Amino acid sequence: MSDELPAHYGGDPVRESVLGYGSQSITDHEKEVVVDALEGDYITRGPTVEKFEDRVADFVGVDHAVATTSGTTALHLAGAAAGFGPGDEVITTPLTFASTAHAATYNDATPVFADIDSHRRTLDPDAVREQVTEDTEGLVPMHYAGHPADVEGLLAVADDHDLTVIWDACHAFGGRWQGEPIGSQRDMVMFSFHPVKNITTGEGGMVVTDNDDLADRLRRLRSFDMNYNPEGHDDEPWYQVTEGLGYNYNVTDMQAALGLAQLDRLAEFKQRRDAIANRYDKAFEEIEGIRTPPEPVDADPMYHLYAVEIGEGFGCDRKAFVNAMHDENIGVQVHYVPLHYHSYFQEEFGYDRGQFPETEAVYDGLVSLPLHAEMDDADVDDVVTAVRRLSAYHQ
Ligand SMILES: Cc1ncc(COP(=O)(O)O)c(C=O)c1O
Repeated sequence: MSDELPAHYGGDPVRESVLGYGSQSITDHEKEVVVDALEGDYITRGPTVEKFEDRVADFVGVDHAVATTSGTTALHLAGAAAGFGPGDEVITTPLTFASTAHAATYNDATPVFADIDSHRRTLDPDAVREQVTEDTEGLVPMHYAGHPADVEGLLAVADDHDLTVIWDACHAFGGRWQGEPIGSQRDMVMFSFHPVKNITTGEGGMVVTDNDDLADRLRRLRSFDMNYNPEGHDDEPWYQVTEGLGYNYNVTDMQAALGLAQLDRLAEFKQRRDAIANRYDKAFEEIEGIRTPPEPVDADPMYHLYAVEIGEGFGCDRKAFVNAMHDENIGVQVHYVPLHYHSYFQEEFGYDRGQFPETEAVYDGLVSLPLHAEMDDADVDDVVTAVRRLSAYHQ
């Protein structure tokens, strides 16, 4: 099979139907719990949201979990709760989704990029140190593909400069660092429950923290910054006061019902994702020019993405690889076009290509292969066959 012509060069595609790079996994039971929630008293934020938050807080081992409408709004709230504002600088990675930087930008603070450690593909603590100024207030590292960033190194920089740390753990829910769940690190950790993430609530996000004041602030901002029991109005039960600029980032009990049911399957999801990553690792050992994901450092990662780097030895570049895989009906993706390549960050903050060489070198070869809990071994083997064909064609 592997010496057959790739579809891009005239052969037949490996698959007839498209295999997506990510997908939700929803059972009939999960559909039922969402319908049950619709029949409850609350279909906006109610007791099921609280139950979902408590389960996540317990699982992660922290005191507070605050559910929000998305990972993006979780980052907005976390940045606001941290007090980021005009004139403040917040250091983050360029190899991420735009929302990571929005912990700063939504709060009118300035996102400052620092280069990555190319092994982990996450923020390099030394590069972060170089970007610290007297205006630096925060640090937003991202656990790329589910592999924890250098938590110790980054917390040391934060300690030296009194920075608030918000971990973007959108990829990493369900993983562990030094035996501890991702999410238990200070000051705040946030997750996304978008359908391609490790569990889903449709759209959804969460911020977790051990800090009581931050949790209070997060809850208030999520719901209009409303004081529902202002002092001096005990005999006016209707009297509620907006005390600041708040938001409506409330999630619904329907979403939380789905989230609770998905939590029950988290171990199953992890097992499947681990098995797929292992199968890829073994298959790609013998293929030249393809760098597989980094060896975990002090971690049991939740494999959110299986991101490889296509190097010179492969025989074609990343662009040819992606287009050829699409012609095989394999839905690969690239995570991410670095943030300093985006016109928004260039025009607003003066970034340009060429500023972060490690990020750019990794980006040039980066491709995420399909990885999700609905994939069976035959799906994985289709991906491997497509890669083998392409490699054989270019040797
Ligand atoms: C690293 C990272 N940060 C933030 C987000 C934003 O999450 P959401 O799509 O739930 O707003 C995503 C997901 O797209 C992400 O992958």
